[in-house]
Amino acid sequence: MSRKILVTSALPNANGPIHLGHMLEHIQTDIWVRFQRMRGHEVYYVCADDTHGTATMIRAEEEGLTPEALIEQMRKDHLKDFRGFGIGYDNYHTTHSEENRHFSELIYERLKARDLIFTEEVEQLYDPEKELFLADRFVVGECPRCNEPGQYGDNCEKCSATYNATELKNPRSVHSGAVPELRSSEHYFFDLAQYTEFLKEWTRSGAVQKEVANKLSEWLEEGLHAWDISRDAPYFGFAIPGSQDKYFYVWMDAPIGYMASFQNYCDRTNNVSFDEFWASTSEHEVHHFIGKDIINFHALFWPAVLSGANFRTPTRIHTHGFITINGTKMSKSRGTFIMACDYLDHLNPEYLRYYYAAKLNGSSDDIDINLEDFVQRVNSDLVGKVINIASRCAGFIVKQFDGQLAAEMHDEALWSQITASSGAIADLYELDDTSKAVREITRLADLANQYIATHEPWNLVKDESRRNDLHLVCTQAINMYRALAIYLKPILPTVAEKSEAFLDVAPLTWADLETPLFGHTITKFKAIMQRMEGKVVDKLVAASVDEPNAAKTEKTEKTEKTEKTEKTKQTGQSADNEAYINIDDFAKVSLKVAKIVDAELVEGADKLLRLTVDLGDHQRNIFSGIRAAYEPQDLVGKLTIVVANLAPRKMRFGVSEGMVLAAGPGGEDIFLLSPDDGAMPGMDVT
Ligand code: 2FM
Ligand code: ZN
Repeated sequence: MSRKILVTSALPNANGPIHLGHMLEHIQTDIWVRFQRMRGHEVYYVCADDTHGTATMIRAEEEGLTPEALIEQMRKDHLKDFRGFGIGYDNYHTTHSEENRHFSELIYERLKARDLIFTEEVEQLYDPEKELFLADRFVVGECPRCNEPGQYGDNCEKCSATYNATELKNPRSVHSGAVPELRSSEHYFFDLAQYTEFLKEWTRSGAVQKEVANKLSEWLEEGLHAWDISRDAPYFGFAIPGSQDKYFYVWMDAPIGYMASFQNYCDRTNNVSFDEFWASTSEHEVHHFIGKDIINFHALFWPAVLSGANFRTPTRIHTHGFITINGTKMSKSRGTFIMACDYLDHLNPEYLRYYYAAKLNGSSDDIDINLEDFVQRVNSDLVGKVINIASRCAGFIVKQFDGQLAAEMHDEALWSQITASSGAIADLYELDDTSKAVREITRLADLANQYIATHEPWNLVKDESRRNDLHLVCTQAINMYRALAIYLKPILPTVAEKSEAFLDVAPLTWADLETPLFGHTITKFKAIMQRMEGKVVDKLVAASVDEPNAAKTEKTEKTEKTEKTEKTKQTGQSADNEAYINIDDFAKVSLKVAKIVDAELVEGADKLLRLTVDLGDHQRNIFSGIRAAYEPQDLVGKLTIVVANLAPRKMRFGVSEGMVLAAGPGGEDIFLLSPDDGAMPGMDVT
């Protein structure tokens, strides 16, 4: 029975570029969509840029652009990257659209009419210089519990305390460095708690994976709070109707962007009607693909809001995990924070589609991308085992038989084995377990290769009396290749297209497995996919390395964290969002060369080292968070740069009398800044 399915990938933020973390999700979605289409279902795949919020506003300001100009440029760049990877959206819209405004207002009005919205005064920190209210991640200060400096306004990275931004000691605005003021303002809330029972049922209805349902049930058991859906001006977004200077919080209108993009598609094409999919009575399917960091928005707030506004709820939320590369977080200094456009400059996008498919298993577990394994799997499994079947056998058909295939199957039993997996492979695609699907397809490719190795067409061609066998063997091989190309088509659309051209057939569908090609004429074989050169991967990594540079690293680290929680993104993205100090302030900082004369571990603080540094005329004690990067003994004798006039700070372990300057993304990758040879302890750094 044919299904009607609307599919979405999470909307990428408009304030940063697309990287390989985004690509995992969009490739996963695209594979699922292509699979469903091959099965004959009616599928609509929509996406958009997620444009609203403070981060967009700040970034636009820094770039000297209006937010509208920034998001338009970003949308073009994003779409180009996605198209480069063969992502086949039917529509790629923007949340800053009239359709989205319409649905945001409509939903809000409907919620309000059902008494699901209330207002309450909220006390918040306000940046008097930038004249804006500060989201939790835009405030830094000392932890109210352990006094650790440099903590954000929601929780302490050192002692894990959670608190309100208003509790931070010595708070500062990340934007301007100004001391925030406490101001009270009226906020709008969605009464989520009313949906507790509804959500308990919905999350157990098969709409989310089991492990996701378990996570959600923890939150549901803890009890749901009302959800603050408003933000104060200035804010880049949609004004709340009837309010004074209040805007919808970006996470309110972002998922509504799915509807808006679909509406835009309906208007543009007249192919389908909006209500068919979104009316509360709709029996068609809606599927959202997301990362596990945003399940609360998609599996709690979103279904509750939809239900409250009398729209249908999603059929299924497909949640994936994060990616690590070579076992660690994507890292700029290691060159593994790879932008989609850089990848496309170096490598065939279908290599990555194949590798991601080979790793995705339908769970929300994290996925490790090992670059050596990547090269190896693509070359040996994909090119070596699958693509080569066609290249080894097509020539015989074309040269010896004018391109015409034989009229029967040589080894029926083997052919049955190849096609018998069709149901199992389809089930795996349906459940996003492409890893198992790829394994099964590889097993079938092994069978096909054994068959060719056994029958040795390259020897048959030398013996005129075995001409018929040659014809049969190569016909069987080409048919097996065609079956593998069908199985892999959702993952490898370009390989499929090239295969269709060489086989001279209409676009392959799943049903074509039932009708092998006999007596059909194929065309001359042209290369379908080349092996990957390992050194190109090295070049890509080298091109992606961001040289460690103290100011820049500090800046991106901060911004990543800030944006991450502000909009709860899947993975960090670089954005230039730095708080400036003027030259007079900078002149007050005294930077001096110091020699590390002693370094030791600090009991009870696994990130810290206690350093004794010599400034020429005196020594000081400094605590530095570089334990993960250096063994204490390796530091002794090194020259470094310290901030010499930082006020002494009392820590749990003693007093720290300055700060050692280091750069890098964090963890093991922190590099002490060291002066050139010839520097002497005590020298000023200019
Ligand atoms: O996490 C993110 O990157 C968000 N921009 C995803 C939004 S998905 C949907 F709700 F719009
Ligand atoms: Zn703390």
